[in-house]
Amino acid sequence: MSRTLFVTTALPYANGSFHIGHIMEYIQADIWVRSMRMAGHTVHFVGADDAHGAPIMLKAEKEGITPQALVARYAAERPQYLNGFHIRFDHWHSTDSAENVALSHDIYRALKAQDLIETRSIEQFYDPVKGMFLADRYIKGECPKCHAKDQYGDSCEVCGAVYAPTELINPYSALTGATPVLKSSDHFFFKLSDPRCVEFLQQWTTGSNKQGSKHLQPEMLAKTREWLGAEDGEAKLGDWDISRDAPYFGIEIPDAPGKYFYVWLDAPVGYLASLKSYCEVKGMDFDALLDPNGDTEQVHFIGKDIVYFHALFWPAMLKFAGRKTPDAVNVHGFITVSGEKMSKSRGTGISPLRYLEIGMNAEWMRYYIAAKLNARVEDMDFNPEDFIARVNSDLVGKYVNIASRAASFITKHFDGVLGYSGDTTALAAEYAEQAESIRAAFEAREYNRAIREIMAYADRINQAFDTAQPWVLAKGIATADDAQKAALQDICSRSLAGFKALSVMLAPVLPALAERVALELFGAQAPFTWADASVLPQRVAPFKHLMQRVEPQMLEDLFEPPAAPVVVPGGEPLADTISIDDFARVDLRIAQIVNCEHVDGSTKLLRLTLDVGEGRHRNVFSGIKSAYKPEDLIGKLTVMVANLAPRKMKFGVSEGMVLAASHADEAVDAGIYVLEPFPGAKPGMRVR
Ligand code: MSP
Ligand code: ZN
Repeated sequence: MSRTLFVTTALPYANGSFHIGHIMEYIQADIWVRSMRMAGHTVHFVGADDAHGAPIMLKAEKEGITPQALVARYAAERPQYLNGFHIRFDHWHSTDSAENVALSHDIYRALKAQDLIETRSIEQFYDPVKGMFLADRYIKGECPKCHAKDQYGDSCEVCGAVYAPTELINPYSALTGATPVLKSSDHFFFKLSDPRCVEFLQQWTTGSNKQGSKHLQPEMLAKTREWLGAEDGEAKLGDWDISRDAPYFGIEIPDAPGKYFYVWLDAPVGYLASLKSYCEVKGMDFDALLDPNGDTEQVHFIGKDIVYFHALFWPAMLKFAGRKTPDAVNVHGFITVSGEKMSKSRGTGISPLRYLEIGMNAEWMRYYIAAKLNARVEDMDFNPEDFIARVNSDLVGKYVNIASRAASFITKHFDGVLGYSGDTTALAAEYAEQAESIRAAFEAREYNRAIREIMAYADRINQAFDTAQPWVLAKGIATADDAQKAALQDICSRSLAGFKALSVMLAPVLPALAERVALELFGAQAPFTWADASVLPQRVAPFKHLMQRVEPQMLEDLFEPPAAPVVVPGGEPLADTISIDDFARVDLRIAQIVNCEHVDGSTKLLRLTLDVGEGRHRNVFSGIKSAYKPEDLIGKLTVMVANLAPRKMKFGVSEGMVLAASHADEAVDAGIYVLEPFPGAKPGMRVR
């Protein structure tokens, strides 16, 4: 039976470029979508930029542009990534759109009519300089428990304490440094604690869709049971604050001037907005497509960090707005690179654009990710050696190799015509069965199982080929008897039929390669459908190169910082030109770090004792604590500004400054790097 599916991936924040985590999510969903289409199902696969919220507003302000301009800038670069990795969304939209305003208003009004919206006055920190209420991450101060300075408004990074921003000692606004004041304001709440919501969520989270599969994976179900207090019988779900006060970049709440929807209210509505905009382009009936009693299946792919929003808030919003609820929320783990977590600001060692720019094949990445993904919420690691091995040994060595070996005999001795000895019914049936098993594995998102099975089939085809020794059969073939000719043609034809079947099975993962195999090698229809696996090919074109191996050098290039021209090096424009005399006024000296220790009460500083060859030691405070442990620095040489006027600081006098590299914008976590001279330099030497 043909199904209709509405498939989405999480909507990326529009204040940054895609990183490899986004690409991984899109590849997972794209493989699934392609596999469903190959089975004859109708799929509407949409994405959008998540445009709203305070961080985007503040970033735009800092750059002196409108939030719309900032969003447009990132939106403009999306296609490069998506096309580059063969990620084929049907439509890409934005949450900052007319459709989203209308739908968000609609849903809000419906919830209100259900008596599920409540107004409450809450007290919150307010920055009097900026004229803005402050979210927890924009408030800093001293930890009430361990008294560490400069801790965020919700938790302490030093001792791990969790608290309310009002508990901070000497709180200040991270935006202006001003002391925040408590101010009350009316907020709108979605009453999730309402018994109707609780009951619905108990049902939905444990429920199954029309296909008989659960809405949530087992580990996610366990999480939601915990959040709902389902196991200990205690209602735990609090009401959800869905409003923010101006200034805010978002959607204004109807009949509430100066109040905006919190970004997480209108963000998932963006799924619907994108589909609606797509329907307008295609002349499809949006309301019919998402009829709550209709047959469309609504499937979301998301990462493990945003489950709360998708498994609780979102289904409840839809339900009580009288709309269709999701049929599946498919959660994936995070991708790490060489075991390292991704930093929010830096991404990982892998830049998706650089990957493409240095000529790496997008399908290698798709294959590698597929080979490692399963249906569970597990993190996966990108490991360079593993990547090279899987692509070169498995993908090229086992799969592509079959075609190059078998096709040459058919071209050379049989003019491209395939011929099978005996009955081929069993062979076709075998491919049909294998393809069905692979299709089912893709549908169940057990991609690694699919790839494992495909490679096992490839092994069997290669073994049969080797056992038949076609190169021996081909010797003196011109004068050989018919039986020998038939044997040669048969083994090569079976290998090529196997190769074609494997190409069908790999088509969701390797769409571009599969299309070339279909069109160029077998003169078949593209794109493949699952049924094509068991259609035995009758002709093959002369073999053309299908896929390169990975060069280990490419991985080295991938991890190197981009050599591309950078307009603003290190995030900071160059300072004005100075003369050599100006420079000479700065006395830089080689210094040896003879001691280094923590500074009591400071989260940023280390105290350095430096020897600059003066027969006395200098005391210097340096803001490098986040990057170095004292014991890592003791004994090392570095460079200091030796003629800087001494400066009295809270912890003592600092007699100079150690040189270190960092990004201009403190918020960009690019690290801090203390300078170290080449071996041979001695304390006191001048640096010029
Ligand atoms: N804007 C919200 C989502 C709103 S959905 C209505 C958001 N954006 S995000 O850009 O931070 O993340 C987008 C998706 O990327 C999320 O599903 C997130 O889990 C995923 N990933 C972010 N880092 C990731 C990895 N390191 N690995 C895999 N996916 C990751 O959250
Ligand atoms: Zn603390």
